Amino acid sequence: MQELWTERYRPEELNGVLGQQNVIEKLKVYINEESVPHLLFSGPPGVGKTTTALAFAKEIYEDGVGANFIELNKSRERGIDAIRGRVKEEARSRTLSDKDIKIIYMDQADELTDEAQAAFRRTMENFSKNVRFILSCKSSSKIIDPIKSRCATFRFRPLGKEMIRRWIENIQKNEGFDIDENAVNVLIRVSEGNLRKLTNLLQIAYNIDTDINEEVIKTALKQTKNADIRGLILRAQRGRFEEVREELFDLLIEEGYPAENILKMIKEEIYNLPMDEERRKRIISELGKIDFDMTRGSKEQIHLQRLMAFLSFLGERR
Ligand SMILES: Nc1ncnc2c1ncn2[C@@H]1O[C@H](COP(=O)(O)OP(=O)(O)O)[C@@H](O)[C@H]1O
Ligand SMILES: [Mg+2]
Repeated sequence: MQELWTERYRPEELNGVLGQQNVIEKLKVYINEESVPHLLFSGPPGVGKTTTALAFAKEIYEDGVGANFIELNKSRERGIDAIRGRVKEEARSRTLSDKDIKIIYMDQADELTDEAQAAFRRTMENFSKNVRFILSCKSSSKIIDPIKSRCATFRFRPLGKEMIRRWIENIQKNEGFDIDENAVNVLIRVSEGNLRKLTNLLQIAYNIDTDINEEVIKTALKQTKNADIRGLILRAQRGRFEEVREELFDLLIEEGYPAENILKMIKEEIYNLPMDEERRKRIISELGKIDFDMTRGSKEQIHLQRLMAFLSFLGERR
């Protein structure tokens, strides 16, 4: 498989991070003074939070970064008990060559419930002798005060258009493809300042045609949506409803994707997926009912519930 461009072009040093000047300057001060507090990074997706945390750790640990920088992923490490267990484990397993502290990066901290955050805060306190946390969130307003007051907070800002253009040009130079002005504009518009989204889309476009115009970007966009929907259906079939719910929520609420379009895409995918014809018929008929229900209710929440109910139906073995 081709290396992901989001990994290939991720800057390794703090100086390579685009924008976010205030954050970077302050982090350098922490490094020089060899005094690192707990940190809270807030900001929209794809603006450099993880990249900055990684670069920060690399400058502190150099080659030891692998053992000393731990990334906790919310979807993998479900539940607060699992998180605390993992933190405990990491805090204990230190080797002699380590610097004094480990850095634990936790994404989507704002998606923990208040109770889970309260439990997490106690963990922060118990291990603050040898662990520093970098918590990342969309908005710090969803983080409980006792955590906020223990962290230095940094706001990551969306990158400006000119900066994004330079990012695209840099990839273009390295990979060697043509991209016209319209395509660049569409790319910037649809990715809404999210550089991860933009870079993935650009890579998909490149794989379709190395002469990239607006049409190629649109085809790429359709492919990513289809892949999202396919993933949703597969997870539903495996009964992983909590993940399905989160992803549906992202598509509907965060990405503002119209429920009817999601339904239409699900239908297309159902036609493409290999399955028993009887089952396919039953699913399509169920889809028809939902389509009918959704045209009567306009609330997003109702759409979400209806789509969820349908996807649970997919998960049932019949
Ligand atoms: N400020 C930035 N400087 C350099 N690269 C960035 C920046 N923001 C995002 N990127 C790129 O976008 C991708 C995702 O960035 P990441 O740091 O994971 O975003 P998030 O804010 O969601 O943690 C990476 O390839 C990264 O290199
Ligand atoms: Mg991240």
